[in-house]
Amino acid sequence: MSTVVLGSANRDLVYRVERIPSPGETVLAASVSVVAGGKGNNQAIAAARSGAEVTFIVALGTDEPGDRLAAEAAAAGVTLQARRVTEPTGTAIITVDDNGENAIVVNPGANRLLEMLNVGENAAIAGAHVLVLQLETPMSAVIGAANAARAASTTVVLNASPIQPLPAGLLASIDVLIVNEHEARHLAAQTRSNQTQNEDENALASALSELGPAVILTLGPRGAIVCVPGELPVLVPGRRVAAVDTTGAGDTFCGALAAKLDQETRGTLDLGALIRAAEFATTAAAISVQRHGAVPSIPTLEEIRHFHSIN
Ligand code: RIB
Repeated sequence: MSTVVLGSANRDLVYRVERIPSPGETVLAASVSVVAGGKGNNQAIAAARSGAEVTFIVALGTDEPGDRLAAEAAAAGVTLQARRVTEPTGTAIITVDDNGENAIVVNPGANRLLEMLNVGENAAIAGAHVLVLQLETPMSAVIGAANAARAASTTVVLNASPIQPLPAGLLASIDVLIVNEHEARHLAAQTRSNQTQNEDENALASALSELGPAVILTLGPRGAIVCVPGELPVLVPGRRVAAVDTTGAGDTFCGALAAKLDQETRGTLDLGALIRAAEFATTAAAISVQRHGAVPSIPTLEEIRHFHSIN
């Protein structure tokens, strides 16, 4: 059993502000910190801390942030299959307000150079049980990885974030599509019904499952809806916690879910397995929002089990 994550790694500059500035507005930060982030990196570390054996395919600059991100991922138990490239390591500017909400701008840098996959990267994907993808790296790599995984019967999980149209050739190779509500409403325009702007979340999840893969629609503190094509959507309720920073919570959910699927599924990806994985992932995300930063907030398997036992 193993999980491969292909995706971005960023150095996150996090500004804590009373409220996120409106266009044209200047606000003063209460503090600033530099932490490890990037959706791919966060998901790889979340899967590793949830107990999976993880390989992370990534592009990093030959710079100090790249060295530091590689060292932190390795310290979390992730095996890196890293390209060290001439572009600087990716950077994200993040503002986090007093309600724990955030706004993020990413300069992809080195992440942009993760395009066509090489022989070693394809072999790692073919040998894995689960592949996890997001959309902070070029679409060519995402499609190539998904197709390599499909050819090898590796389960493919796509977190369609940041959102962009999904080519039919990619959708055909995806087993599980994870989106938040904002991303889901964008993607709904790709469905046959194409009239989901005002529909409720169950209808939205069902409409998205027309695209082919099973759909997990994350709802923040309210949990997640799991929808398998041809079945009624199922709500996995969220955990009641006081959030201080939601940055990376979606990534924690995706990584923890992948780890659980890696551990649980033996060739079948049924509704029950997805619900169990979503319950586990919801707990992991609930722990992460009670802490600051992306990577620093990701819980270990022991912390997830402990939270389960007392809630
Ligand atoms: O999902 C949170 C992540 O988005 C941050 O860590 C930031 O680097 C961006 O990739």
